[in-house]
Amino acid sequence: MSIQMERSVKDRSLLGLKSLSRFEIESILNRAAHWDEQHVKVQNVLKDKFVANMFFENSTRTRCSFEVAEKRLGAEVINFSTSASSVEKGESIYDTVRTLESMGMDAGVIRLKPIGLLEQIAERVKMPLINAGDGNNEHPTQALLDLYTMRKHFGQLDGLHVAIVGDIEHSRVARSNLYALRKFGANVSFCAPDNMRAHDLDAPYVTMGEALQADVVMMLRVQLERHESEVMHSTEAYRAEYGLTLERVAQMKKHAIIMHPAPVNRNVEIDDEVVEAESARIFEQMANGVPVRMAVLERALV
Ligand code: CP
Repeated sequence: MSIQMERSVKDRSLLGLKSLSRFEIESILNRAAHWDEQHVKVQNVLKDKFVANMFFENSTRTRCSFEVAEKRLGAEVINFSTSASSVEKGESIYDTVRTLESMGMDAGVIRLKPIGLLEQIAERVKMPLINAGDGNNEHPTQALLDLYTMRKHFGQLDGLHVAIVGDIEHSRVARSNLYALRKFGANVSFCAPDNMRAHDLDAPYVTMGEALQADVVMMLRVQLERHESEVMHSTEAYRAEYGLTLERVAQMKKHAIIMHPAPVNRNVEIDDEVVEAESARIFEQMANGVPVRMAVLERALV
């Protein structure tokens, strides 16, 4: 007789990659590859399941690709937007999540600013929660789609040199990528001006010239909205020192790829012509977000 183990809400949730094992991450990537190969657009895997997309911070890619993923799996989708909600009247994020849970949601996708709040909410609700980006802490599904994109191009992640360039301090993408890539034996380095370095992370900082010798050059957006003081004298000065220009692309290795989680500041951290260059994978990353999020939703709900 086989004993089916009931997976806990905690095991179905995805709050970050720091605490996930390599095996768990690999399972999600493998399942994403399965969904990537499906030609039937809508399946009934999540039929009769209700998923709430709760975005307390703006988003285009993450919000839309979660919605596409949910609809492709046949789920019922509730889109919650802060500006049209009672949050504007002072309702807390916790009360909003509990409200949607009480209406029968089976899972919640959530993006929010305050660091640490997601873990507290997850302790108190009974539906699985998926982190769609919390402050500068983690953005697990972005890093999963980044790993998926790298694995698809290089075949494996082990030994890959990934240089992450830009506003590391405010980047949840850099954190989730660092935590996940290290589990696969990838070599991660950062490149950033002094006032954009993250002192809580122990990856080595390299020069821009060294970063250009990586297998993956991942550019980050300068997140002006998260900086309390002025971070750069001018966008031209930032581009001159840290921007991925056509001249710098010419210095990269022939097999290397360019990534960026987007949105991009064209002609600041990355030049206009580079965004859609042959070696750029930026729009492919967005496309890969759908099968990756299908795998994460399936893990949460099936
Ligand atoms: N990469 C990313 O998280 O983009 P959005 O903010 O548009 O979701």
